[in-house]
Amino acid sequence: MMVAKSTAREEAVKKIKVTKTEHSRIGEVDFNNLVFGKKYADHMLVADFDGKEWVNAQIIPFQNFSVSPSNAAWHYGQAIFEGIKAYKDQAGNPIIFRPYDNYKRFNLSAERMGMPSVPEWLFIGGLDMLIDLDRNWVPTGEGCSLYLRPFMIAADEFIGVRPSETYRFAIINSPSGPYFNKPIKLLVQDKYVRAFPGGVGFAKAAGNYGGAMYPTMQAKKEGYDQILWVDGYEHKYLQECGTMNVFAIIGNTAITPDLSQGTILEGVTRGSVMEVLHDMGLTVEERPISIDEIVTAYNNGTLREVFGTGTAASVAYVEELSYKDNHLKLDTTKYEVGSEVIRRLDGMRTGKSADIHNWNYIVGE
Ligand SMILES: Cc1ncc(COP(=O)(O)O)c(C=O)c1O
Repeated sequence: MMVAKSTAREEAVKKIKVTKTEHSRIGEVDFNNLVFGKKYADHMLVADFDGKEWVNAQIIPFQNFSVSPSNAAWHYGQAIFEGIKAYKDQAGNPIIFRPYDNYKRFNLSAERMGMPSVPEWLFIGGLDMLIDLDRNWVPTGEGCSLYLRPFMIAADEFIGVRPSETYRFAIINSPSGPYFNKPIKLLVQDKYVRAFPGGVGFAKAAGNYGGAMYPTMQAKKEGYDQILWVDGYEHKYLQECGTMNVFAIIGNTAITPDLSQGTILEGVTRGSVMEVLHDMGLTVEERPISIDEIVTAYNNGTLREVFGTGTAASVAYVEELSYKDNHLKLDTTKYEVGSEVIRRLDGMRTGKSADIHNWNYIVGE
């Protein structure tokens, strides 16, 4: 059960020791030319799991960790993370978009990877305190936000294969511009597979990304931006792409792959986009969707749009989808559904329009 916002923050304020930086680096950042994930806000949060409980929770100036070469995370991959965004509302107050959804997903990932769960005061209360302190780092430019990166790694100094007993949890924040600034080209991958039922595809585990690097490098050499993964048995049912879930608009129906196989990350943006599409009057279907269905819809003229959704990328229009000899080209300048979804989502998360779904977490007391 989630506790009230004020309770998580109050507990955090009692338990998290704060040491402020004496040398803010904010003057070094060109807020008019932000790139994704290169600069980090002045402060970070760190806490350690000592085998029994979370201890030494602190907000400190952003700095390196000192890590043993025998660190268990490096050898066996017990490492998970989240990606969340903070914006400013029209009055200039920082707001975090749906952090409780990321919090729940973080602990799901932790469980699947045999790692301890993180308490709400540390994750939610810690985020609140950290962003309150670094509020000047939340950009306000078009398409910009403070990207929040909570993560947890195994901390044992031991090279035997077993779950680590100790862990480190941390949050670092990065002022960021748009992830993709143009429509993307996707390659439907039918040789390499990202996730199987029973595996860790639904978790935001570092290894999922490591395993995707080589196939993605190959796809990039062929001129694609990302891979659209399909299932590992029949190599035809869509899963997700890179760091995004995927939607196809066929006629007046929006279709996105369902989560029943446990192979897809349950995107927070995916959930938000489904609700926004519903608000817009479209029929939303969460179900298995094959690449053959997409190709057929393209050939008979009913495939209107394909887009990816994710925290980093927001909504990314797909201008090309290639599968074997089929090269589906889509005119993204005519994407009415995707553009309306972006308009509504942006409006809500920057306080320009009413937060009708209660998605915004207002930072501070
Ligand atoms: C593999 C993968 N799928 C989907 C998503 C989209 O999830 P969200 O909307 O929560 O960012 C992400 C990004 O977090 C991702 O890494």
